Amino acid sequence: MRTHYCGDLSADLLDQTVTLAGWAHRRRDHGGVIFIDLRDREGLAQVVCDPDRAEAFANADRVRNEFVLRITGKVRRRPQGTSNAQLRSGEIEVLAHTVEILNTSLTPPFTLDDDNISEQVRLENRIVDLRRPQMQNNLRLRHRASRAARNFLDAQGFIDVETPFLYKSTPEGAREFLVPSRLHDGQFYALPQSPQLFKQMLMIAGYDRYYQLVKCFRDEDLRADRQPEFTQIDIETSFLDELQIRALMESLVRHMFREAAGIELPDPFPVMKYDDVVRDYGLDKPDLRVPLKFTELTDVMKDVDFNVFSTPAKDPAGRVIGLCVPGGGTLTRGEIDGYTEYVKTLGAKGLAWIKVNSKAQGAEGLQSPIVKNLHAAAIAAILERTGANDGDLIFFGADKAHRANEYMGSLRQRIGHDRGLAEKTWRPLWVVDFPMFEQEEDTGLWKARHHPFTSPKDGHEDYIESAPQKAYAKAYDVVLNGWEIGGGSVRIHRQEVQQKVFRAMQISPEDQRAKFGFLLDALQYGAPPHGGIAFGFDRLVAMMAGAEAIRDVIAFPKTQRGQDLLTGAPTLATEKQLRELHIRLRN
Ligand code: AMO
Ligand code: AMP
Repeated sequence: MRTHYCGDLSADLLDQTVTLAGWAHRRRDHGGVIFIDLRDREGLAQVVCDPDRAEAFANADRVRNEFVLRITGKVRRRPQGTSNAQLRSGEIEVLAHTVEILNTSLTPPFTLDDDNISEQVRLENRIVDLRRPQMQNNLRLRHRASRAARNFLDAQGFIDVETPFLYKSTPEGAREFLVPSRLHDGQFYALPQSPQLFKQMLMIAGYDRYYQLVKCFRDEDLRADRQPEFTQIDIETSFLDELQIRALMESLVRHMFREAAGIELPDPFPVMKYDDVVRDYGLDKPDLRVPLKFTELTDVMKDVDFNVFSTPAKDPAGRVIGLCVPGGGTLTRGEIDGYTEYVKTLGAKGLAWIKVNSKAQGAEGLQSPIVKNLHAAAIAAILERTGANDGDLIFFGADKAHRANEYMGSLRQRIGHDRGLAEKTWRPLWVVDFPMFEQEEDTGLWKARHHPFTSPKDGHEDYIESAPQKAYAKAYDVVLNGWEIGGGSVRIHRQEVQQKVFRAMQISPEDQRAKFGFLLDALQYGAPPHGGIAFGFDRLVAMMAGAEAIRDVIAFPKTQRGQDLLTGAPTLATEKQLRELHIRLRN
C-alpha cells in the first residue's frame, strides 16, 4: 500500500514520487492550500494539497484529525525558512497528487500533542494514547530491551523454557491470584508470583542455564512501580557461585542499557552489605544519587535528659539517627513542618532539628527546639560526627531502628531531590548479605526475607534454627537510582538444609509435604548447586525511558486499583459460569 514510512522521508528522495499511509495528525487550511501532517509509527511528513488537483484537494478538505489516509505525491524541498530541524523529514514536503481517505475517525478525546491529559482519560482511551509518539517510543524501547536481553542470554548459553501459569499455590511472600478449577470441584490453581520453583527444578533436571521473559502475578497493593501482572527476566544457572552470577548479571544489565537506550552504566557496580546500607541510608534500595548519609547517634543519646532520644537509644532495638542537610539552614519553618508531616505519614512521631548558625559559638550558635535538652557532650558529638558547617541543618530520627531507618531513609531521598542535591547520573548498587529471616511483629514468627529457598552464607547453616536473626543469606538485590530492579540468590540444593529453613519458619512436616513435597523430592535426585536472579523488566524499561511509573512502558496496564479501564476488567461473572466453577458468592 505504501512505498515509504512518513518519518523516513528525507532530502535523499527529492523529486521522487512516494506513496504514504498513515493518520492525519493535524490539518491546516491556509486559505487555498491545505497542509496535512501525516503520521505513522516512524514520524511525521508534511503533505501539501493545492487546488490544482481538484479531487485530491476535495478529499483533503474532508480530512479531520486521525482519519486514515493514503497519499501519493512528489517529494520537494520546503520553501526557504519553513524547514523544521526537529523532524527527519523536516527539509522536505510532499506535494499530493492523490489523497485517499481509507477510514474516518471520531474526534479523539484529546489531541496527541497534549501532555497534560489525566491518566484516567489516557487509560480509558488507551488506543489513542498509545498513538502518542512518547508511548510509541516507550514500547519500541521495551522491544529493544527485550531483544538485547535475549541476545545477551542466548550468547551466554541460556535457553528459554516456558513454565506454567496454572500452578500450585506455594506461598512465596505476596498474595496470590486463584483460578477455580471446573474439573475439580472446590479446588484452585494459583497464578505464579514467579517461576521460582520451576526454574530450580529445571536446574535439577540438568538444563544448566535457563531464562524466560515471563509474566508474574501478585495480588499486592499497587504503586507507581508495581502492577498485579508484570514481567520478569527470570534467570537461573547451575555450577556458578554468587560472585560469578553477579558478574554475569551486571553485564546483562549494562548490555541492555547500552543496546536499547545508549546509556553507559558504571562498570563494575559497587557492592554493599545490607547491614551497611541500612546503617548509612536506612532503606535497602537507596538512591545513591543523593549524596547524604546518616550519622549514628544512638550511643551518645543514652544519657541525655530527653526521653524522645534516650528511650530509643537505650532500647536494643532502637536507634537515633542524625541527617545533616548542607545549606539546610535556609529551610523555613513551613518547610520543616512539611517534612515533619511527611515522616509522620511513614510512622514517625516527630522530627527534631537543629540549625547550625554559628559553630564557633557552641550551643549558643544553634537554633532548635531541642538543644536545651541535650548536654554539652552530646551537642559536641552531633557537630563533630555530622561534620555540620555553619548554615547546615540537622534532622533527627529516634525510634525502633526499623521505623527510624525507613522514615529517615525516605526523608534523605526526598530532601536530597527537593534541594537539588541529587547527581544527574546513573547509580547502580548491589546490596548483598541480607539476613535470611525477619520476624513478624505480631506473631513473632520468622519468615524468609527473600524466599525460603535461599541458601545461607557458608557457616550460617547452624544459626538457621538456633539463632535465625544471625543467619545471613547468599541473597543479592540490584538497585538503580533508588529502584529495586532485580533480586536473586544462591539456592539451597540440599534437602536437609531446606527442611531446616522450613522448620525455622515453623512449617510443620505435614505442611512441608503438602506445599513443597515436589521440591523436597526433587532435591533428593542429585540437585546441583544453583542460583539465579529475576529482574523487573518493566522497571528496567521505565528507568531507561525516564518514565515515572511502569504503567508508561506497559501497553495495557492496570490502575492503582487493579482495573483495566480500557476493557473494564474485572467484571462480574454470570450465574452459569459460577455454577460450572462450583462457586457461590457471599453477599
Ligand atoms: P522478587 O520478588 O524480588 O524475586 O522479584 C524480582 C523483581 O521483580 C520486580 N517486581 C515487580 N515489578 C513490577 N510489579 C511488581 N508487582 C513487582 N514485584 C516484583 C522487582 C524485583 O526486583 N523468584 C525471585 C527471584 C529469584 O530469586 O531468582 C523473585 O521473584 O524489580
Ligand atoms: P516534643 O518534646 O514532643 O515537643 O518534641 C520535641 C521535638 O522532638 C519536636 O521537634 C518533635 O518533632 C521532635 N520529636 C518528637 N518525637 C520524635 C522522634 N521520635 N524522633 C525525632 N524527633 C522527634
